Amino acid sequence: MEKQALLYEGKAKRVYLTNDENIVWIEYKDSATAFNGEKKAEIAGKGRLNNEITSLLFSKLHEVGVSSHFIKKVSETEQLVKRVEIIPLEVIVRNYAAGSFSKRLGVEEGKKFHRPLVEFCLKNDDLGDPLVTDDQIDILQIAGSEEVEYLKTKALEVNQVLTGFFQEIGVRLVDFKLEFGKDAEGNILLADEVSPDTCRLWDLETNQKLDKDVFRRDLGSLTTAYETILGRLGGEKACT
Ligand code: C5P
Repeated sequence: MEKQALLYEGKAKRVYLTNDENIVWIEYKDSATAFNGEKKAEIAGKGRLNNEITSLLFSKLHEVGVSSHFIKKVSETEQLVKRVEIIPLEVIVRNYAAGSFSKRLGVEEGKKFHRPLVEFCLKNDDLGDPLVTDDQIDILQIAGSEEVEYLKTKALEVNQVLTGFFQEIGVRLVDFKLEFGKDAEGNILLADEVSPDTCRLWDLETNQKLDKDVFRRDLGSLTTAYETILGRLGGEKACT
């Protein structure tokens, strides 16, 4: 497989074309951003950690029958994925109150929900990724009601599997964000990444934050937190 021209550069990743029109080459960057890009930093090693963690989680999901765009990891910071057109929605699953839910609705962080909650936000940086209802998604012609139901079902399935994986390694899956895309045949595939950048992960016993909130809230070393997650998942340590 040959890495070709840069197709797109986002806040955390670069996407390159390959010699296969159905496959793209993803490079994870060391950039950290929060609050819609208002807070920024370069953190050495972050790209490697997110690539390793995402590759491990997508592989584990695949083993239990949850497919995604992921094909394989090709280097410490790169992976090959199926080319999809991203559906411009952030699909958020919450098991406990935290973050924007707590802030907006005045619920104490850490309160367990009696069932998982699925929310949708419009992927639009200029608008600050606003929450959208199922009807708004339909009116905006982003996805019809059947597709929205499919996204909810898939997101809840991923939640069930990931909650189990994380529980086994002593981590509470508080909430996370997924993205989905459509391949050339119109099949909806889980895409983007699943990493401590996109999940809230708290130590089961101490509630220590092991995710991007460490960066958002200046709680210490992001790489130490992400290394803890990678280490517990059985991933490889950095070459020194
Ligand atoms: O900020 P909020 O509480 O809505 O985030 C919910 C979950 O979605 C968190 O795990 C957060 O890391 C993730 N998220 C994300 N990218 C965004 C917004 C939220 O990965 N643009």
